[in-house]
Formats: sequence, structure tokens, C-alpha cells
Amino acid sequence: MNKNDFFPSLPLRDIVVFPGMIVPLFVGRDKSIKALNEVMKTNKKIVLVTQKNAEIDDPTEKDLYSFGCESKILQLLKLPDGTVKVLVEGIDRIKIIESKSEKEFLMSSTEVVKDKIDSKEDLLSLSIAIIRKLEKLTNLNKKISSELFTSLKEQKNPSKIADLIAGQLNISIFEKQKLLETFDLKTRLEKLMDHINNEINVVSVERRIRGRVKTQMEKTQREYYLNEQMKAIQKELGDIDEGKDETTNLQKAIIKAKMTKEALTKCLSELKKLKSMSPMSAEATVVRNYLDWMVELPWSNKDKKLDNININEAKKILDQDHYGLDKVKERILEYLAVQKRVGKIKGSILCLVGPPGVGKTSLGKSIARATGRKFVRVSLGGIRDEAEIRGHRRTYIGSLPGKIIQQMKKAGTKNPLFLLDEIDKVGTDYRGDPSSALLEALDPEQNAAFNDHYLEVDYDLSDVMFVTTANSLNILPSLLDRLEVIRIPGYTENEKVNIANNYLIPKQIKSNGLKNEEWNLNKEALKEIIQSYTKEAGVRNLEREISKLARKTVKNILTNKTKESEINSKNLSDFLGVKKFKYDEIEDNNKVGVTTGLAWTEFGGEILKIESVMMPGKGKMQITGKLGDVMQESVKAAKSYVRSKSLEFGIIPPIFEKKDFHVHVPEGATPKDGPSAGIAMVTSIVSSITGIPVDKNIAMTGEVTLRGHVLPIGGLKEKLLAAHRARIPKVLIPEDNKKDLVEIPKEILNNIKIITVKTVDEVLKVALVKELIPVEWIDTETLTKSTTSEKATTESAH
Ligand SMILES: Nc1ncnc2c1ncn2[C@@H]1O[C@H](COP(=O)(O)OP(=O)(O)OP(=O)(O)O)[C@@H](O)[C@H]1O
Ligand SMILES: [Mg+2]
Repeated sequence: MNKNDFFPSLPLRDIVVFPGMIVPLFVGRDKSIKALNEVMKTNKKIVLVTQKNAEIDDPTEKDLYSFGCESKILQLLKLPDGTVKVLVEGIDRIKIIESKSEKEFLMSSTEVVKDKIDSKEDLLSLSIAIIRKLEKLTNLNKKISSELFTSLKEQKNPSKIADLIAGQLNISIFEKQKLLETFDLKTRLEKLMDHINNEINVVSVERRIRGRVKTQMEKTQREYYLNEQMKAIQKELGDIDEGKDETTNLQKAIIKAKMTKEALTKCLSELKKLKSMSPMSAEATVVRNYLDWMVELPWSNKDKKLDNININEAKKILDQDHYGLDKVKERILEYLAVQKRVGKIKGSILCLVGPPGVGKTSLGKSIARATGRKFVRVSLGGIRDEAEIRGHRRTYIGSLPGKIIQQMKKAGTKNPLFLLDEIDKVGTDYRGDPSSALLEALDPEQNAAFNDHYLEVDYDLSDVMFVTTANSLNILPSLLDRLEVIRIPGYTENEKVNIANNYLIPKQIKSNGLKNEEWNLNKEALKEIIQSYTKEAGVRNLEREISKLARKTVKNILTNKTKESEINSKNLSDFLGVKKFKYDEIEDNNKVGVTTGLAWTEFGGEILKIESVMMPGKGKMQITGKLGDVMQESVKAAKSYVRSKSLEFGIIPPIFEKKDFHVHVPEGATPKDGPSAGIAMVTSIVSSITGIPVDKNIAMTGEVTLRGHVLPIGGLKEKLLAAHRARIPKVLIPEDNKKDLVEIPKEILNNIKIITVKTVDEVLKVALVKELIPVEWIDTETLTKSTTSEKATTESAH
């Protein structure tokens, strides 16, 4: 071909034509049709060259690759829509030297490019290997025609073989163009080999995946088919008829449950979803569980007995179950009476507050019995997650409603007695605030539409009688606000004896399989159990010790074959082991710096020994015994007060700079906080500075101001009970607490001398065994002298 000859050039969008390849082309572009016409007229050759970007409609030279294929036209067919179908045959690889568009189409001058062949290489064997690979690929995907193989097998020229295959491969235009531009034959063959290998890999991976999907599908189909067949067989056998399949049963149950309208609509729509699901699928299980919950909840089922509760009858039941607690029972009966009149539970919710083992939980049960309600209970101790109260959203298998709804299902009626035990132990953290859910449940204004995350529809709790219990009043204020607190402070010794005789012993005799005549515990022994084997406000440990006795008695009867054996104070330790507590906690003699305070903890009242010592130093103050912040401050306030009043107490001032003080409250395990040990602290410090001992028979409680006033304290009854347990004969209490004495049992008032105090001066007067002598007058001279002598006296006092 003459270098200067220009041939019409046909830009191709999405094909690369190789030498030897015969392909039909559909031509639509005006310019291209004109170029073809020109070729037909002149019977010249045409240059086929691929566009770099198929989307360009009117390509110029720079939009085309610079290598193409010179071809001849075998056939040309004008189609009715004006486009042209043309059959071309590639002849030679060419390089485009120059292009111009002088006529109405592109003309190019070209130069034929010959293959580069190293004659020593055995390219024919390589190309035969390629043909074999290609056959393997064809077996896999059947995309290559069999005619190609016949012509390939006849072909002995590696270059032609390479071009024939290149034209047929399923690779990108870009890759094809690269093959066209590879003149070194060996390299071109190797590239081909790589492409075919790649394709084989891809195809076989595809097949593997398709195979897996197919077996999976076949398995589910098979299961479905077998299920259907089983149903058909059962139907044939008459086991079930068509109407009794799962969804129809569910539908019946939904209607029978008499739900609220909202719940009913929700259930029916879920049921509809269920029908369209594959019965084995995970979603179906979720929906089915949900519907089961909804169906089993009591939506309208109420205990009818409630309307005609008899208050006298209720009182009898309460008395049957618990000894004493008169005020508490009285309050409960009032509550029931109002409820009977009003018909609905409105107003505040009872909260029974007291130390462990005083019968709060069991009283809850008893109220249920007295009112004829079902009893359900949730212990809130340690609940920190809102979802535990309000349920998990129904997004995964295994999610459940919250505890409130769970217990409602257990109750089976809409109006049970619901005991929320240990409401003071709910916590708050990052998992949400359970108390807000509790508030919603307890608030009579809101609880007609309690929202559980799992149910998604509102549930009416307004017929439920909620009762709560707590050990302390350390309850979230917003909750406390809705509760009516009833205090159960603990029992006196006599009360415990009565509870044991009338309730605990009969209960234990029965549960251990004893006969009444086989049980013989004498009075003294019972008292000794209460005094020396238990130390508690309630009766839980007492019950445990009695149960231990009952067990041992049974064992003795069975092994020794004796019919009865009396338990008295002499042989009590054979049954219960050595005494656990010293019943008398009073010191042996009056001591300097040691006072007895009274504290109030979750476990009831408690005796608190306070010790302080003074030693040479620089005025430092040390406080030990795991005291809470408030109590630490109270120690500091006590010291400041003593310091401010030092002259009146007969103390010469520089002592505070020259001595270190150490205040210690033993028994580091019990939590100690609050200001009520104030007067005990002051007394202890004054005693240790002046060296005057404290009366061992006195316990005291009261907060102190910096000016020496004694402020009232809480938990008086618990504290007096503790003093009574410890056999303390005299107790100092703030004057302002005098009004609380009406609530204190006679038994205690008969045994303890109560002295009310208004100021610290009064406290010191009673508590210290010697009177304080104020320093009348001092000049600076005596001051320096007397400090040295003072040191000598105080130290000898220790
Ligand atoms: N007044 C009483 N009469 C009869 N039995 C009583 C009385 N008080 C408590 N009991 C009995 O004492 C045991 C412990 O009571 P209960 O479990 O109700 O204590 P609680 O106050 O709930 O304690 P906690 O705060 O530890 O939960 C129960 O067996 C209960 O029957
Ligand atoms: Mg309890």
C-alpha cells in the first residue's frame, strides 16, 4: 500500500477487528455511511479503527486508537430504516500515519505492521496448547462456536491462530486493542493464554457458587414439599382437617383473648404476615412468639372476688399471717376499705420500708391473700437496664417482654397484687433508667397505657394493686413521691418471742416433719437464741436458728430413738454451737474517750462505739473507720465546737496546736454515715482532752451545730431497739425527738431511761462522770506554764 494513499476510515464503537476475522457491522452514523459508499464506488479498502471512548458520536483522529485493521467489504446491505449492514473481512494490521477529514468523512493513510517472530521459537506448539485450553473453556461455558474450532484446527499459522482467537475472547475492548497492538507474536500468544486461564478460573468459581445456591434452594423446596405431603397424609388419615392448621388456631385464640382494639388490630396484621411467611423461617418464629405472648396475656380476665372483700375477713387473714405490726395492718385495712368504696385503686402506692427480715415481703403476700388477689413479685435488686422492666424491641429471636408484663402473664388476671420488692435497689447507668419505666407503671395517671417495647401496644395496668418494699428511704425522689411509706422498724425481744412461738416454730415444726409433742424448747432457751445467736432487727436469722433446731431434733429422734428431748439453755450450744454474739455490749468500766453512739443503717439500728485519743503532735486530726463524708465532717465540726468552747470545758487552748487527735469508729465493715453521731463525737473528744471518763451506761444520738445545739435525728425507733438489744440503760436523745416517743413500744420505755437534751452542755453534764470546771481567768504567763503541766495530766489519764 502506498504510504500516500488515503483510505476512507470507519470508526468502530465496541469492537476490535483482527486480521482474518469476518464480522457483520451495523453502521448508522452519516459520516460512516458516506465512507462506505465511497469504498463501494472506488472498490478500495477500508480502515477499521476502534474509538477510545465508545460514547463519542463524531470522533476525530485523536479520539481513535492509532492501530487498526485494514479490511475489505464482502457484502453491503441497506436496511429500510436507512442504516447499513456490512460484512467485512480483516486483512492486515496497520498503523495510522495521518488522518484528515477533507471529504465528508475521515480519510487515513496507513502502514502495514508485520508480526515480530523469533524463528527459533516453537510457536505452533504454543498455539496448539492455547487451542486446547480454549476447548476446555468452551466445555465450561459453551460461548464459543464449534466452527471456530474447525477453522482453528485447519490453521497452521500461529499468527492467524492468535488473531482468530483474540477476536472471539470475552474480554474488554481495551484488552483486545492491546492484543492488536502486540506485534511480538510470542508475547501475544502468551497474553492470550493468560486471558483464557483467567476466564476458566472465573467460570469455574461462578459454577461452584451457582451449584451451591441451587442445592440450597432444592433443599428448602424439598422440605416444603415434604411438609405439604405430610399435611396431605395427615388430612387423609383424618388427624387434622384443613380448618385446624396453625394460623386458624391462632386466629381463634386472638379473638378469644378479648384484647384491646389496638392490640387486636396489631395481632391480626401480624397474623397476616405470618401466613405469607415460610413456616420454617426465623421471622416466622419471631412473629409466632409474639402472637403467643399477646394471646396469653390477661387482657380482660379479672378476679371477681375483689368486689365483695370483707374488711373483717381481711383483718383476720392479716392477723393469721403476722404478729403485731398493728399500725401497719391498720393502714392496710384503711386502704382496702377505701378501695372497696371507690372501686378502683387510685392514690398512692404502699411502700413497706424496714430492715431485713421484718416481714415486708411476706406481708405483701398476706395482703394478696387478704384481698383475694393473685400474688406476683418482681425483685428489683440490681436492675440497671430499662429493658428488664420494659422489654426488648422485637427485632431479634429471643427478645422478651419486660418483667412487669412477664409477671402479668404469670398472674393470668388483670388485677393481681404486684409486689415490687427492693425498690431502693434499682440503679441507673448507660443502659437506660429503669426508674422511668417504674414511674410509668406506678403512676395511676399513666398506667392505663403502660408501654412495653416488646408488645408495642399499650397494656392497661390500672387494675393492678402495686405494693413496694425497701430497706431504706434511699429511693429516687420522683418514685418516692408516689409512694405512701409505712415503716416497719423491727421487733423488740418480747415481740420476737411471740413471733417465734406463734408463727416461726409452728411453721418449722411442720416443714421439718415434726410432731407437736416432739418439740420441746423452753422459754429461757428461746430468749437465749434471740440474745446470743442473733443480732438483728427482724426475725430471719431467728427463723433460721429455729429451723436448725428442728432439723437436729428430727435427727436425734431418728438416731437415738428417743421420743422427746428438751432443749434448754444448758444444752442449747449442743444444737447451735457456740454463742455468736455478746449480748451485753456495755464496757466493763467507764473509759476516757470512748462513747456509745446509735446509728441507723439499712439493717436497722446499730450500736456505734466511738473512740478518740490525743497524742503529742502538731494539731493534726486523723479519722479512721471507713466513715462517710457527712460523718467525717461531723467529726471536724465537733472538734471546732470543742475548740471554741475550750475555756468553758476547762481546756487551755494551745493544746490544739500541740497535740494530734485520732477519732476512730471500729467495725469498718458496717457503713457509717450521717450527722447523728455528733454529740457522741463531741463527748468523746472532750473526754479525751480533759481526761474525764464517759459513763459506760449511756448511749446517745443527736446532731450538733457549731454553736452547741442538739438537732433532731431520724430512725429513733430503730436506734432505741438497738440500744435495747445491747442492754443499754440510759439513752440521750434530742429534745425535738420527744414527740416520736409515742411510737416506741412500752417494753422499751420500761427498760431504758430516756433523757432529752437541747444543748451539748447538757449532754456533757450527763455523759461525763465528773463535772467540767471552766478556766476562770488566765494571763499569758499562766498560759505558757499551764500548758506543760496540762500535758502531763492528760497523758497520765490514758
Ligand atoms: N410479724 C411477723 N409475724 C410472723 N412472721 C414474721 C413477722 N415478721 C417477719 N416474719 C417472718 O420472717 C421471715 C422473713 O420475712 P420477709 O422475708 O418478709 O422479710 P423482708 O422484710 O422482706 O426482708 P428483706 O428486706 O430482707 O427482703 C418470713 O418467714 C416472715 O414470715
Ligand atoms: Mg423481702
